[in-house]
Amino acid sequence: MTPQEAASSRPAKIATTLAALCATASLALGAAPVSGVTAPKPFGTTPEGTPVLLYTLTNAKGMVAEITNYGATVVRLLVPDRKGKLEDVVLGFSALDGYTSDAFRKSSPYFGAIVGRYGNRIGKASFTLGGKTFNLAANNTPGGLPCALHGGLKGFDKVVWDAQPVQKAGAAGLKLRYLSKDGEEGYPGTLDVTVTFWLTASNDLKIDYRAVTDQPTPVNLTHHGYFNLKGEGRGDILDHQLTLKARRFTPVDKGLIPTGELRAVKGTPFDFTTPHAIGERVEARDEQLAFGGGYDHNWVLDRKGRNLTLAAKVFEPTSGRTLEVFTTEPGIQFYCGNFLDGSLTGKGGQAYGKRSGFCLETQHFPDSPNQATFPSTILQPGQTYKTTTVYRFSAK
Ligand code: GLA
Repeated sequence: MTPQEAASSRPAKIATTLAALCATASLALGAAPVSGVTAPKPFGTTPEGTPVLLYTLTNAKGMVAEITNYGATVVRLLVPDRKGKLEDVVLGFSALDGYTSDAFRKSSPYFGAIVGRYGNRIGKASFTLGGKTFNLAANNTPGGLPCALHGGLKGFDKVVWDAQPVQKAGAAGLKLRYLSKDGEEGYPGTLDVTVTFWLTASNDLKIDYRAVTDQPTPVNLTHHGYFNLKGEGRGDILDHQLTLKARRFTPVDKGLIPTGELRAVKGTPFDFTTPHAIGERVEARDEQLAFGGGYDHNWVLDRKGRNLTLAAKVFEPTSGRTLEVFTTEPGIQFYCGNFLDGSLTGKGGQAYGKRSGFCLETQHFPDSPNQATFPSTILQPGQTYKTTTVYRFSAK
């Protein structure tokens, strides 16, 4: 940084520090909430010995987002219900060891993490690019068919990111950066990734994803939060009413790899173009639901261009909370927590049973590196990967 740059970034730094101090003071004194980032707290130490921190973002409405730099993971998200009562609406653990435990790694639910370099599945755990075949770890075998899932054995959800609090008008943020080495998890090229979370004054959790590479490489980054709008640990999510702005989805084979078809949802349990409770048809006799053990599919968003567009809406009747998801991405994986089996106990001391949370993972389509007709996920040197997703909360 030149002295000039240092001088010009000083007011921003002072503003960030002041906001952090105000946020810390207001939390400590129980005063009216203010927007800011509190001083980070220790969250634990990785098995490799790296200390990890927990950052708290607040807004003036009392919404709170706690994010750790391990896996760029959203640990807690306090959101008001229709009476203004705050409740934590995401699944997770109160300390790092929950995320690094053998039980968690074995069942790999990816609670709240950023997944990458390639979120979702790559069939047969390999792809060809520029005439060369790249072999990845086959870390998932649905239906007995091996594939690569969510970036590999040690994907972006299991690494320690550099974190820096940031502030702008109307929003407190946390900027996380990770440098993924050439060849890491079998992927070509050094990938410089930045993910910035913003908590805005209007109860949006906004995520900006950026990446640059020095060699062509597939990139598909997403946030793997599990939501329960009643509050984490408060049973299943089957009564949540879901709308998806998608008239088509990408059907899969028994290995959960897209067949390449873009199939109309009309007349099937996959039609969420009007609101339906998640549980209404999840057990219907349907080959696709049988493959996923419930909903675990990518929908093709109805969209024009790459503007931020409403992709999904979820309403929970008892609390009155609504989550709307906006994205610049072409697809969304709706996964209703079919693999959760009660073996993990979360922050509030409750076991997370089957379908106790749902994910809305904005993304490019699964297996895109092997599917010539899907929108490309290949990032070229000189290009910038740039996507945005907003999780907007309201209550009535
Ligand atoms: C994604 C996948 C699911 C499952 C979860 C993590 O949503 O589509 O099949 O692997 O991640 O458990």
